[in-house]
Amino acid sequence: AKILVLHGPNLNLLGAREPQIYGRETLAGINQSLAERTQAAGHELLWFQSNAEHELIGRVHQARDDRTAFILCNAGAFTHTSIALRDAFAAVAIPFIEVHLSNVFAREPFRHHSYLSDLALGVVCGFGSASYALALDAAMQRLQAPTP
Ligand code: DQA
Repeated sequence: AKILVLHGPNLNLLGAREPQIYGRETLAGINQSLAERTQAAGHELLWFQSNAEHELIGRVHQARDDRTAFILCNAGAFTHTSIALRDAFAAVAIPFIEVHLSNVFAREPFRHHSYLSDLALGVVCGFGSASYALALDAAMQRLQAPTP
């Protein structure tokens, strides 16, 4: 099955961006290890990063057309602001997991609210790049056995 990992604004700077919060791994490195994990399980990983809200929304729409089975989404700061991105997930009705490198609940209060969490199957945050890997494992488990 196709699994899409969606990265929002500023995540292209991973590795250099506030490494004390987000770690030293680059986005390319994260995507590479996720792709290997996905392939080993017989699935296919697609990934997309954008700093633009409309491009992320467009990519969610496209996921319906290319029959993506599952989405892992780190929407970055759009998590806390974007009703439009939330509406896109509601529109396509593709199961997704919300991902954050940092523990958003241990940070500023404006990061405590997410427009996505209640639509998501689950949320993984606080484990650095391992947050993505844990979410991917959960997604692949769900693809294997669709009922909780
Ligand atoms: C983030 C947390 C967000 O609050 C922040 O705006 C980001 C990254 C994370 O992965 O920890 O850009 O989503």
